[in-house]
Amino acid sequence: MSTLKTITDPFIAANGSDLLDAPPTMGHALWTAPAGRRRRPQPRGTDTVAVLYENREWMEPLFAAMDHRGVRYEGIDLADSAYVLGEHDDYPLVINRVSPSAHLRGHGSAIPLVRGWLEMLERAGKRVINGATSFRLETSKVAQYQLIRDLGLPLPATVVFNDRTAVRTLLDGFPFPAILKPETGGSGANVRFVSSRKALEHLLDTEDGLFGPDHVLLLQQFVSSGDGSILRTEFVDGELLFAMRVRPNNTFNLCPAEGCVRPSAGLDTDGEPDVIFEYEPDIPPEAVAQAREIVRAARIDVGGVEYIETPAGDRYFYDINSTSVYRADMVAASGVDASDKLVQFIERESRKEQRKLW
Ligand SMILES: Nc1ncnc2c1ncn2[C@@H]1O[C@H](COP(=O)(O)OP(=O)(O)O)[C@@H](O)[C@H]1O
Ligand SMILES: [Mg+2]
Repeated sequence: MSTLKTITDPFIAANGSDLLDAPPTMGHALWTAPAGRRRRPQPRGTDTVAVLYENREWMEPLFAAMDHRGVRYEGIDLADSAYVLGEHDDYPLVINRVSPSAHLRGHGSAIPLVRGWLEMLERAGKRVINGATSFRLETSKVAQYQLIRDLGLPLPATVVFNDRTAVRTLLDGFPFPAILKPETGGSGANVRFVSSRKALEHLLDTEDGLFGPDHVLLLQQFVSSGDGSILRTEFVDGELLFAMRVRPNNTFNLCPAEGCVRPSAGLDTDGEPDVIFEYEPDIPPEAVAQAREIVRAARIDVGGVEYIETPAGDRYFYDINSTSVYRADMVAASGVDASDKLVQFIERESRKEQRKLW
């Protein structure tokens, strides 16, 4: 006998049920998605790991390294994807590689899609590499800066706003020059340099589309390193793989991937937007320890942080990244095969999860 109760909706009872083919029931919870929806049914105990991404191009080194080590994986492109709430494929491990700059490739909707998906997976007890907490940090500068402050590290003065008039009430005494950046960062998109209060007010008065896709902007004190360089560290499972010194010229897009298109920052410097990446073998142990602590607190399994060191020796962390793309020249210079390190970590985590199933 069916345990389902047919419940007539009071609205439909009052308005007639002829709008519907069949009376509404509470049976929806028992709906089963069509088998064809599944990407590839995974038998229980499978060792195939799932990789969520939105930019296939950036996946090539990881997939090549997984092929090389014989790690089985299923790539899932979130640029156009669907999942059933409450259903889980039996992957032992899920790896999230969605980038906050997805909107630059027309894949912005991958961000809210994966956010919910990661939460669902973790609520069900799935192990996700770079899971919901790290993704929340990755897509919120405000969350990043709160974490940096909580760790007792210094932060440049920062004002958060969603309105051109509201921000003016907080500008008295603000230490210009400054950087204007969106709450959801990524590849320096919509980052602007503002030399003075006057320059900011001009921008606020004249610039259409100042607010990026997320509508919240941060005005942040500009920190000068003297030579314009910044440092970027890369970690896997708490281990520093390498650090690089990045020298931007006329751009804020420091995306390390080969082939990244760099819009000009509109600065008064000569030349085309360009970035020089140098292997930096000598970052101070204190900087490594601080960067590692940030990555750990952000629950980032794979990623790193950016910081600027002033000529006086003060260090300011200003960006937390969990979408690492390893440059071939850094791998060569450091002698660390970063993609292979990542795959070894994936293998370790996958094995741990598979053991739990026995
Ligand atoms: N407070 C700052 N002082 C000086 N330069 C900054 C500051 N914040 C950001 N920048 C510059 O802008 C670039 C992009 O900013 P970032 O916060 O890293 O955004 P994204 O998440 O888009 O990479 C940085 O790599 C750096 O060159
Ligand atoms: Mg950055």
